[in-house]
Amino acid sequence: MKIIVTGGTGFIGSALCQHLVRQSADEVLNIDKLTYAANPASVAALEDAPSYRFMQADICDMESMRRAFAEFRPDAVMHLAAESHVDRSIDAAAPFMHTNIIGTFTLLEAAREYWNSLPADRRERFRFLMVSTDEVYGSLGKEGAFSETTPYDPSSPYSASKASADHLAMAWHRTYGLPVIITNCSNNYGPRQFPEKLIPLMIINALHGKPLPVYGDGSNVRDWLHVDDHAQALRLVVEKGKTGEKYNIGGNSERTNLQVVKAICAIMDELHPQGAPHEELIRFVEDRPGHDFRYAINAEKIRRELGWQPRETFESGLRKTVEWYLENEAWWRPLYQANAQGKRRGVLANSGVAQT
Ligand SMILES: NC(=O)c1ccc[n+]([C@@H]2O[C@H](COP(=O)([O-])OP(=O)(O)OC[C@H]3O[C@@H](n4cnc5c(N)ncnc54)[C@H](O)[C@@H]3O)[C@@H](O)[C@H]2O)c1
Repeated sequence: MKIIVTGGTGFIGSALCQHLVRQSADEVLNIDKLTYAANPASVAALEDAPSYRFMQADICDMESMRRAFAEFRPDAVMHLAAESHVDRSIDAAAPFMHTNIIGTFTLLEAAREYWNSLPADRRERFRFLMVSTDEVYGSLGKEGAFSETTPYDPSSPYSASKASADHLAMAWHRTYGLPVIITNCSNNYGPRQFPEKLIPLMIINALHGKPLPVYGDGSNVRDWLHVDDHAQALRLVVEKGKTGEKYNIGGNSERTNLQVVKAICAIMDELHPQGAPHEELIRFVEDRPGHDFRYAINAEKIRRELGWQPRETFESGLRKTVEWYLENEAWWRPLYQANAQGKRRGVLANSGVAQT
């Protein structure tokens, strides 16, 4: 397939581009603005592949999006470009509204114009895959799991902007017939994740003997999925998913944040014994405002209808992830420094009036 991937230089996008080019023999055009969250090193291994191309562009720029569709002539779009960090959305929401809502709208319009111009057989096969998050569903209590019919109830500026984008995508399907599919995935982890997110931040802070900040009492629960399992699910959905449908993707690996941090500490004790016991670095800090208590995904639909299931267990995946960060300091060091070495964001005292 010829696939436009937006946000392909970010964490999930780069894993997806590798999967499409190396394992599915797809032809890929990666469109990425290269914000702070992008690291060109994440896709450097693809630069020489004849089936991989890169275009630096903002998805909010209609002319660039039109040009990308007209020149590349894709069979599908996998839309991942987004502002993705909840804490940053609390401090300054404007870029989230801009990219996640206006950017998605712009991409949908460019895709629709292109799709309308296609011959019938290619129109039939075209797909617009909106890559979304389980955070659009809001928070769960101690029991239950999100299904595809759970009503949207987002809590943060980030998740509200993603929910808006999902609604736009589904409206473009219902109103214009654009062949849209939406996936809602749980928390991803793995190599090449920006070191402001929980798992890489804890690994790198532990390596430096710096405090490991755990929000609230650490009892918030997330359902973790390895990024390569997500990439594989997305490829399956773009080829075999039904248009107008949603698919939840999750790893069935619920852990409290404190369990995750303690698991990282235990692995670090083995791999970096100089700093042991790393658990002594754990500090409980002021909770995130609007912090959802628990996310859990019921991934039965994608399992039943498309035969997908995750390959990586959380234990083995986490160990590989810690090993990757320990072995790839050149990848994360510049990002960690640019990110004020793990500075705390998303406490209300920091949030200003957003710049547009
Ligand atoms: N990380 C997770 O756990 C998770 C879980 C479920 C869904 N998602 C969704 O998956 C997608 C990718 O997440 P991620 O964690 O890889 O994010 P990321 O922040 O690592 O990467 C986002 C990428 O999008 C690019 N980008 C941002 N604004 C852009 C714009 N205006 N135009 C073009 N490119 C732009 C950035 O440069 C970056 O390369 C997002 O849509 C996110 O909502 C993430």
